[in-house]
Amino acid sequence: MNWDDTTDATAAERLVGSVADREDQAVEAALRPKDLDEFIGQEKVREQLDLVLRAARARGATADHVLLSGAPGLGKTTLSMIIAAEMEAPIRITSGPAIQHAGDLAAILSSLQEGEVLFLDEIHRMSRPAEEMLYMAMEDFRVDVIVGKGPGATAIPLELPPFTLVGATTRAGLLPPPLRDRFGFTAHMEFYEPAELQRVVHRSAALLDVEIGAEGAAEIAGRSRGTPRIANRLLRRVRDYAQVKADGVITREIASAALAVYEVDARGLDRLDRAVLEALLKLFGGGPVGLSTLAVAVGEERETVEEVAEPFLVREGLLARTPRGRVATPAAWAHLGLTPPGSAAGGGSGQQDLFGA
Ligand SMILES: Nc1ncnc2c1ncn2[C@@H]1O[C@H](COP(=O)(O)OP(=O)(O)OP(=O)(O)O)[C@@H](O)[C@H]1O
Ligand SMILES: [Mg+2]
Repeated sequence: MNWDDTTDATAAERLVGSVADREDQAVEAALRPKDLDEFIGQEKVREQLDLVLRAARARGATADHVLLSGAPGLGKTTLSMIIAAEMEAPIRITSGPAIQHAGDLAAILSSLQEGEVLFLDEIHRMSRPAEEMLYMAMEDFRVDVIVGKGPGATAIPLELPPFTLVGATTRAGLLPPPLRDRFGFTAHMEFYEPAELQRVVHRSAALLDVEIGAEGAAEIAGRSRGTPRIANRLLRRVRDYAQVKADGVITREIASAALAVYEVDARGLDRLDRAVLEALLKLFGGGPVGLSTLAVAVGEERETVEEVAEPFLVREGLLARTPRGRVATPAAWAHLGLTPPGSAAGGGSGQQDLFGA
């Protein structure tokens, strides 16, 4: 396996919630399901992928190129490794931002072994010339290497061994159609159901050798924003709490108390999410307010508010993005226990017990 440092760094930047550390990445690798049977949820994707891979194996051929799209932490990197494992093929890992020049890509492609899986993370962030080289490589297993400059430059065609490209993106909409069309199979990963996340928590707890009850697992699952990576992260924080404050066993009460300490509320909102909502409600009367103004109010970068906090708040129906700016929904007022201005009810009832302890 060939780990590319750049991939690690960018994956860490995009971790939902707090910044990932080395421990995070090491544990994450240890908790990755190794084959399709171990992979929880995403039934449709699993069934379809299983067919694609089985058929390729039966033909003794290399599997078709696969595009995986979906929010951070839903299992794209994990699935790419599973594809290689199921095909009993080696895997090479790189990412769009790591490929600045077409030459970088040519070097990688020409060193692939027959049948190898090339995992290209953040494929939407590749440079234009590299993208165009990739079109030809995907379709004809051939690249043109340009030698020389100006009028004297010549293109030397280079044959490539058949390989499987697995592209991953959090932003499928940003992929140019010619690139998207060259994938034989596209899997869109959905957020996970609470019952599926509960299974993720149980599986990880067993691997980490942590004792946990069904209710404790459900409590963690319910606050994990539909995302296995967050479920695993919360599990580890709750484990810490259970070890220090109790006998190490995770019950519903322990999970709930621990998550209150880490400021993850009953609905899975963390400190940043609540800061954004509170600013929107208390400073701007529920909006509409521009993204930049909102970001300044919470002392965060515009991008952090837009890419880290907002997608979840929108999905939860707490915030709406309108042409005039960000607007809070009635559910947002209710969640923070505040009364919208001009509503009949007299005065805010004060902060609810958000953490559900
Ligand atoms: N279906 C699943 N079953 C069990 N665990 C899972 C599943 N999907 C993801 N995980 C766990 O969640 C963690 C994050 O998954 P992964 O790194 O594959 O996400 P990703 O989609 O590549 O995220 P990013 O977009 O940030 O790169 C992994 O450690 C893995 O153990
Ligand atoms: Mg990934």
